[in-house]
Amino acid sequence: MQVRVFNNKDEASQAAFEIIKDGMANGAKTLGLATGSSPVALYDKMTASDLDFSNMTSVNLDEYVGLSGDNDQSYRYFMNSHLFNKKPFKETFVPNGLATDADNEPARYDQVIANHPIDIQLLGIGRNGHIGFNEPGSPLDGGTQKVHLTQSTIDANARFFADEKDVPTYAYSMGIGSILKGKKILLLAFGEDKADAIKATVEGPVTTDCPASALQNHDDVILLVDEAAASKLS
Ligand code: F6R
Repeated sequence: MQVRVFNNKDEASQAAFEIIKDGMANGAKTLGLATGSSPVALYDKMTASDLDFSNMTSVNLDEYVGLSGDNDQSYRYFMNSHLFNKKPFKETFVPNGLATDADNEPARYDQVIANHPIDIQLLGIGRNGHIGFNEPGSPLDGGTQKVHLTQSTIDANARFFADEKDVPTYAYSMGIGSILKGKKILLLAFGEDKADAIKATVEGPVTTDCPASALQNHDDVILLVDEAAASKLS
């Protein structure tokens, strides 16, 4: 696991942008993408660039159960407004929050992932070490699942909703096993809120207590962090 520490989010996001640009120049066709605040500066750089994504496919990590893509809190809406509407991709995949066959949605999405092997997987990290919505206790080798969000994640996401009771309590999430199949993994983390999770990810044991620690089992992971997020590393 490689850890790169930057002065600020902008420099880290620029480095992530360069890695994606180089990857595309070297044949990457499928990006695994994340929502949340961590990748926004990177998406701004992608949309402001002259890079052409019209031959690229994207596969997103997760989506809230019960929200349609038109709901401005859904992850589909987030991706459309931050990236896809500005930089069209060939195909974009996000789990279907309104899947009528909820039992089948994880298997359907695993097939999407199998059909579109991910060249570069982008991740943020939760304060509790989650990646995607794989909360502590999640299997470290699983596929897509319907997951019950922890109170800490609901609290962290409440800032985006008018009322905490509007925050969905379930999500579909790519599993850690699927995330680890990405050829290259980039994890972005900013701010001191993430410092404990980054320390556990890099220096802790590989344990379901910190789902991101499973990244230690992958041979091409780059953590792009600011000084605050790196502040507890020894
Ligand atoms: C988002 C996702 C989550 C976030 C994480 C960090 O698609 O899968 O794991 O990456 O919750 O969120 P931010 O970046 O808002 O701190």
